[in-house]
Parts: sequence; C-alpha cells; structure tokens
Amino acid sequence: MVAKNWCYFITYALSLLVGAQTALRTRALQTAVTWDKYSLSIHNERVFVFSGEFHYYRLPSPDLWKDVLEKMKAAGFNAASVYFSWGYHSPKSGEYDFTGIRDVQKLFDIANEVGIYIISRAGPYINAEVDSGGFPGWLTTTKDLTRVYSPEYTAAWTEWLSAIDPYIAKNQITNKGPVILNQVGKFIFNMCPSYMQALEDKFRADGVIVPLTFNDAWTNSSFGHGVGAVDIYGFDSYPQGFDCANPNIWPGSAQTYWRGYHESFNPTEPLYIPEFQGGAFDPWGGVGYEKCATLINYQFERVFYKNNYAQGVTMLNLYMTYGGTNWGNIGYPGVYTSYDYAGGISESRQLPYKYGELKLQGHFTQTVKPFSTTFWFNGSTADNSDIRVDTLQDVYTGTQFYIVRHQNSSSLVHDTFHLNVNSTDGTFTIPQQASTAITLDGRDSKIIVTGYDFGSHHLVYSTNEIFTHAQIGKRNVALLYAFEGEDGETALKVNRSAKPAVKSFGNNPVTTCVNGTTLRLNYKHQGITPVVITGAAEPDLLLYLTGYDDAIKFWAPKVDDKQTVLVYGPYLVRGASLKGTTLALRGDTNATTTIEIVAPETVKTVTWNGEKISVQTTLYGTLVGKLAGPAKITVPNLLKAKWKFNWASPETDPNFDDSNWIVANHSTTNSITQPETLPVLYADDYGYHTGSIWFRGKFNGPSAITGLELLGQGGNGSGYLAWLNGEYLGGTPIPATSSSANATYTFSKGQVKSGENTISLLLLTSGHDEDWNVDDQFKSARGFGKALLVGGNNTAIKWKVQGNLGGEDIVDKVRGPYNEGGLYGERAGWHLPGFSDSKWQSVSLPYNFKQPGVAWFRTTFNLNIPSGHDVPLAFRFTDDKSKEYRAIFYVNGWQFGKYANALGPQTVFPVPEGIIKHNGQNTVAIGVISFNANSSELANFNIEILGAYCGGIKVNDVDSPNYNKAVRRV
Ligand SMILES: *[C@@H]1O[C@H](CO)[C@@H](O)[C@H](O)[C@H]1NC(C)=O
Ligand SMILES: *[C@@H]1O[C@H](CO)[C@@H](O)[C@H](O)[C@H]1NC(C)=O
Ligand SMILES: *[C@@H]1O[C@H](CO)[C@@H](O)[C@H](O)[C@H]1NC(C)=O
Repeated sequence: MVAKNWCYFITYALSLLVGAQTALRTRALQTAVTWDKYSLSIHNERVFVFSGEFHYYRLPSPDLWKDVLEKMKAAGFNAASVYFSWGYHSPKSGEYDFTGIRDVQKLFDIANEVGIYIISRAGPYINAEVDSGGFPGWLTTTKDLTRVYSPEYTAAWTEWLSAIDPYIAKNQITNKGPVILNQVGKFIFNMCPSYMQALEDKFRADGVIVPLTFNDAWTNSSFGHGVGAVDIYGFDSYPQGFDCANPNIWPGSAQTYWRGYHESFNPTEPLYIPEFQGGAFDPWGGVGYEKCATLINYQFERVFYKNNYAQGVTMLNLYMTYGGTNWGNIGYPGVYTSYDYAGGISESRQLPYKYGELKLQGHFTQTVKPFSTTFWFNGSTADNSDIRVDTLQDVYTGTQFYIVRHQNSSSLVHDTFHLNVNSTDGTFTIPQQASTAITLDGRDSKIIVTGYDFGSHHLVYSTNEIFTHAQIGKRNVALLYAFEGEDGETALKVNRSAKPAVKSFGNNPVTTCVNGTTLRLNYKHQGITPVVITGAAEPDLLLYLTGYDDAIKFWAPKVDDKQTVLVYGPYLVRGASLKGTTLALRGDTNATTTIEIVAPETVKTVTWNGEKISVQTTLYGTLVGKLAGPAKITVPNLLKAKWKFNWASPETDPNFDDSNWIVANHSTTNSITQPETLPVLYADDYGYHTGSIWFRGKFNGPSAITGLELLGQGGNGSGYLAWLNGEYLGGTPIPATSSSANATYTFSKGQVKSGENTISLLLLTSGHDEDWNVDDQFKSARGFGKALLVGGNNTAIKWKVQGNLGGEDIVDKVRGPYNEGGLYGERAGWHLPGFSDSKWQSVSLPYNFKQPGVAWFRTTFNLNIPSGHDVPLAFRFTDDKSKEYRAIFYVNGWQFGKYANALGPQTVFPVPEGIIKHNGQNTVAIGVISFNANSSELANFNIEILGAYCGGIKVNDVDSPNYNKAVRRV
C-alpha cells in the first residue's frame, strides 16, 4: 500500500499549492475552444457537441475509417470521441508503433478531410471492454498499484503519453487539426488527485492545450475542483444497463436530477455526458446483438437522448456509435469477437433503423442554434397529467423548446394531449384545430419548438419536430416530421403587406387559415407532402411535411461552409459539392432508387458518384431522377472448396522437443491472484500475454500418484485441456460467468510411468480483466493457480511454458501484439497466407477428426467484387450446439473470430474489406480446439454477403505479410 500513501502525501502537498495550481490552470492557453455554462464555442461560434464513439483499433482497415466517419457526419454528428489504446501500440516496454493499422495520423487526417472534430481520450487507462482496459500486456507484471501516484507506474504511463501526446498535440484545432477536447484518464473510484494532476501536467507539458475533460462514471463529483480538476467535467450514463435478454423491459428511467447536480457542481461549464448509452455489449453465452438492438432502439434514442437535452446537456457523446470487432485478442473476457454494440452503425458498417433517429436529432442539434443556449423554466403544462413537459428557452432569441415525454419514461400508453405554450408570440393551447392533438404513442418524446426565426421566416410553433432547414438557392426549405398518422399543426408569421398563398403538392390535404399575422397549417403526417408558401415572407418557403419513415430517408449534406442541399431517397448520401451549375453528390444505394433533390435554381447538372444522372424538375422546383442499385454479387461456396487438414497438438507428445521453451520456475508473482501451488504458472510472468498458452510439466512417477488437480484461470468463457504422456485426460470449459475453473483428472491404473512423465496443458484465454475499481484487477492470473499431483506426497513437477511466438518481442509487427497466441499452428505460421499446406491431408467439410485437441483447416478462394461497390462480407459457422469445441479463424493471417460452438452466441463474423481482399485470393485458416472426441469437427463454415451497396469508398488491401520461413522457426 506504499503506492496509496504516496498518493495522499503528494495530493496533500499539491493541495497546499492549489491556489497556484488554479492560477496555472490553462483556460487561457488557447482561444479556439471556449465555453460557458451553456455550451462549447469553436472559433467563437456556439456548437452543440453531438459526438459518437469510434475505436480505430476495432476496424483494422484504415481506409474504412473514412467510411465510418462519413456515415457519422451524414447523420449530423460533428465530433467523434476516440479512445487511444496503449496496449494496441506497445508490445513491450519502450516499444511503440504508429504505422499501418496503427497510423493514428491517418485517422486525424481523415477526420479533417471529412470535417468532423475529435475528442481524444488517450487514457492511460481506458476500460472500453479491451484487454486490461487498454493497459499493455507487459504492465500486468509490474509491482506497484496502477492508476495512483507511484514511481513504477508513472514511468510506464509517461512512456505511453510521451508516444501518443505528440500526435494529439500536433492535430489540435489550434494547428488546424480536428482535436477540440482532450480527456484525461478515465473514471477513478479510489481517487488519487495527485495522479490525475500528474496526467494533466504531462498533457500540458507535451503541448496539449485544448480544454481538458474528465469522464466520471456517474454523478460522482470527481475532479471538478481542487487538485486534478479539469476544465470541463462530465459523467457517464448507461440507464438501460446491458440485459439484452429482456429487450422490451426498460429497467432504467430518465433522470431528472442532472440539471440540479450540474448547477451545483460545475455551473460554469456546459453539461457534458462523455459517454451516454448508444447500445449495449453482450457477453460470452449472451443473447446476441439483435436483441441489444431492440433494447437500445430508436425509441430509447428518442426518449433518453431528448431527456438529456431537457436536463441541459449540450455536449453528448454516444458510446458506441460504431462498435466494430474485437479481432485477435483485443477484447477483455466480458465480450466476444463482435463488438457491434447495437450502435448507430453496425459492425459491418451498415445503417440500422436507429441510425435514422440519430440523423433526425443530429441535424436538429446542428441546425437549430438557439438550442445551445437555453435555460429551463417552469412554464408549461399539458392537458394530460401523464405527460411531462420540460421547457427550455434560448437566452438570446426567446425561442422555446417544449420537450415532452411520459412522466414514466418507459410507459407504453398511447397518449394524446394539448400543450399550453407561452411564447414570444403569445400564449396558445396547441394544437388549436378542433379534434386534433399531439400524440405520444408509447415510448416516445418530442421537441416542440416555438418562436423560432429560420431563414427569413418565423415559426410561431409547430406540433411536429424539425429535422433541418436551410436557405437553398433563392428559397427557404424546412422539413417537419411526426409518426405516420399523427396530426400536424404549424403556425408561421406572415408579412401583413403580402398575401400568403399555400400550395400543397402531396396527396394529403393541408388546410390553412390566416388569423391576423399568423398562418396556420393543419394536416396529417403520411408519406411526403411538399408545400410551397409564398407571400408569408420573402423568399418563398418550401416545407416538407413527412411521416417518420420518409423523414429518415432525407439527407442534408453541406456543399460548403454555408450552403446545404436536401436529398431524399438514397441509402446514404456521403457528401455534396457545387461547382458552377453542377451539383456533385456522393453516396450509396442498396436498390434502384428514386432521388429527389432540393438544390439552388442555378443547378443544371447533377452527378452521382461522378456520373451524370438525368433529372426532371418537379412542379415545386425540385429535381428528380433515378439511381441504379448494386450489381448482383456472388461469392464462392466454401463447402465446395478444397480444404487441407493437419493435426496440431504435438506438445502433447512426451517426445516433443521443448528445449527452447521458457522454464517456469518463479516462486513469487505480482499478480493479484496468489497461486496455491508453486512454481508460478502464470503466462504473464513469463512474457506471454495473449491467446492460447501451453504448459508442459515433467515428473518422476511413483505409482502412488493417482491424479492431477488443476485450477485453470483463462478468463470468462475460456477453458483448458490436459494430457498425460500423450493421453488425453480431459477438457474443462470455463463458464461465461466465471474466470476460472477447477478440475481433478484421475489417472487410470498404469497411466503414470515409473520414470519420467509428461503433463501437457493447453490453456485458452479470453483476455485480461479490466481495472474498474483501481485494484489491479487486470493483474488477475492467466494460467494455473494450482497444479497438484494427487497422492505421491507433493511430487515436484518441472514446468515449461510457451505462448505466442516471440512473447513480447512479437515477430508479426504488422498485425501486432494481439493477433496470435501460442497454438502450434499460430507459432508455426499456419495461419498465414503463403504457408505451404501441400503436404497436408485433403478433406471436405464437414470433417470430423475424432480426437480431442487441436487441428487446423485451411483453404483459399478468390473474390471478384465489382468496383464501386461496398459489400460487407462475413463468415458463418453452423453446427450442433451440443458439441464442445472452440475455433479461431484467420483471414489472410488476421485473427477475425473466436468461435465457441457450445457457448455462443456469435455464429456470424464480419470481416472488413481490406482484411479480406475483395479482388484476388484469400486464405482462411481455422484452428479447432476440441474438448472431446465427439466434438472434433469443422462442420459448416461458409462466407456470406451481408449487404450490397453501389457506392462505397475506395479501400486498399491492408498489408498482410506472407509466411516467412526464417521467422517462423518453431
Ligand atoms: C407568459 O410569460 C410571461 C413572461 O414570463 C408572464 O409574464 C406571463 O404571465 C405568462 N402568461 C401566461 C398566460 O402564463
Ligand atoms: C385569432 O387570434 C386572436 C388573437 O391573436 C385569438 O384571440 C383568436 O382565438 C384567434 N382565432 C383563431 C380561430 O385561432
Ligand atoms: C434499402 O435501405 C432502406 C433503408 O434506407 C431499407 O428500408 C430497404 O429495405 C433497403 N432495401 C434493400 C433492397 O435492402
């Protein structure tokens, strides 16, 4: 506990200096990013921060970073929050890699090109459901408590920040880069202010001058004041939890104390939620992400995100917006390969239904500027006591936002009501039209706006919601939406001197009435109703009144800093530019699509992905045309492919040569799990931090020995297998709910020889734990805490250990420290393209190899996906769930899946383009680890198409080095 005392001693010393510290605090280091109690400003312009979490290390195909960031930008996100993962860049103390898939400069460049800000979060500790919460493997063997002030830990994190900080510093907005904010650390429960302060001082010393932020795990009042205080404090909230098994039950309720907490805790800063629930992760043996997508669906987004706004949040980051893949061994034991997270963009980069809601809210927060500077007032009621109304008013313009939801945020009741508003234009009960009402049909929330100037028009109120509005060419355009069948009422100010004319171009009736200076429209939301209003104000107004499912098919790309166009129809519109009279649109279609474009009148030509499309002008002055869908895509059937097969547990053979293995002879360990028997059999202690680990033990056999007791600690959902003298003793799967399991293997009579005996143990690991509580939980053992011969009076075993080739001196620097483990096939490079399997046995699937242990399968196949298409591909395992085997599979040498047949839940494994070559030859290698003879098979394994989109972006193949005999000497 030396380290803890350090913490308090140094914190006390610093607190004496706190006046000086505060003075040193760095609000004046730059003027690009400023803030007040309402919101952040960038270059003196208010911004509502609508941010999505994205982890580059969960998408190791750097060109696709652009795809994800463009999809975020198209939904109205103006920022991406990015964790930088220490362990991903550092296989060994002192070694740091920022090349290839780790090229963070490329990430910053892409963000700049796309036009999206970055909130950088470099830890050192990040949690994030990654191995050790982002700590490198080599940190697991250090002595001092981490995440407090200690010399050993300080030396370690100083290495990391010295390596990553120059990238963050160079790419700050003050240097024309995308970084606007820099988070320090990650929630800390056993708070050590001096540690926090030391991190801040390091960022500052390394030239990070943008505001520093903190991410409290909840409203826990950390680091808003005193030693270690940051510039902008924020807290997390995951109100729904992670119980995807009951996706229709909403256990959490929308919180209403945050505004008060913020006003008392950090009233001079904006209300920031650095992580709000954007989805949910799912554990080994879980129910799968489809159910998580139901739990955290568009209704959750509507009710909970809007409640955040009602509480005063103007800086919101959604975790995860793009989850990606725990490829290789990057995940911690609580997650399996997919980290889809049921986020707004799927693991395979497809756009689920809930993306549409993000787009509606994203554009609203970016378009309606008064939303960034509001105060709450107790100003309004509904004529239905079931309805909660939070009223916000802009301090500058008086524009009001009535955020309505059910009092009980998970209510399923269909409610209708009228709202009493007291706006800059007077008091009204809306809607005013008899027999109409505002609807909240079950889990829903709406933002109703009054007294809002947009373009040259003035919205008195609308009972519907605003997607966006813009001046396009000579007229104003706005889009209002509500769910299909709901009533709509919109009132606009009219210019007394003009005579307003309202012309509807849809099939749904729109009635109008003018009362004094107010023009009122009444209608029902269904499909799309374009309405042109002339004479209300100059210029004309084109109003789209739409149902929800049509609203989410609109896009509002900016053609430059000022101008926007509106586009309806395509699956995705990535961007637009205007050169002379040509409007160039970029995007993706999933089928033949009718496109409608609201463009400046000067536009004569429209191109889509560079090709001219023929367009007609509608009666209300928009352009319509047709876009082609994707070509028909085919992939080979891998069940018909030629497969090669080889046995791969030579370590079980008593005569196997383990002379170059490391002798496991430690008698002490820095692990927090103390072993029950010695020597220490923890892989980390011998330099192996990832994937499968082999142990071989030799003992001389008095016949009194009757068995072997083991405690295997591989992490949740892992397991181990044991052999004696080449004979299989048995396998022990570790359940998803436990990180270790005991087993006793009884030897049969005569199985122990009187001379030398050999035990072979294969431990599968599922990664290191995180460090949630600052108790070094990530230093939990990965190995065998107990290996005891039963009978024979504590006969000593001489142990050796083997893990990934090279240990911390990884041999595959391109794919990095988490890609491969210590299976024989991995060490020997059987997973790599270019390895010659010509001497292996030819087999076809399904194939049963009838013996427990490890076996490998390989095949190659060609793909020829047409250019100009984005075709997400995946591999699917299908088998009888009673069979207890695991498989890891590699595509072109990249480990892209850990499959647990009996445990589940994942059966479909997306592999991003670039890792899988869409044009050319691909190599698949699968290591199957079988726990019993009946389970020794690879049954149905095939490639499948998850979707086909005409468009996409150009993706270069990721450098995937071939097998090299010289380095794969095992
Ligand atoms: C409307 O608000 C104003 C300003 O707060 C207040 O003076 C007035 O009494 C309110 N009117 C009604 C009808 O509530
Ligand atoms: C017209 O406006 C007046 C005052 O602004 C109001 O009292 C009246 O109720 C309105 N009539 C209708 C039909 O909305
Ligand atoms: C295309 O995407 C839209 C969502 O934009 C979806 O509603 C539709 O079903 C998709 N069509 C096909 C053929 O996949």
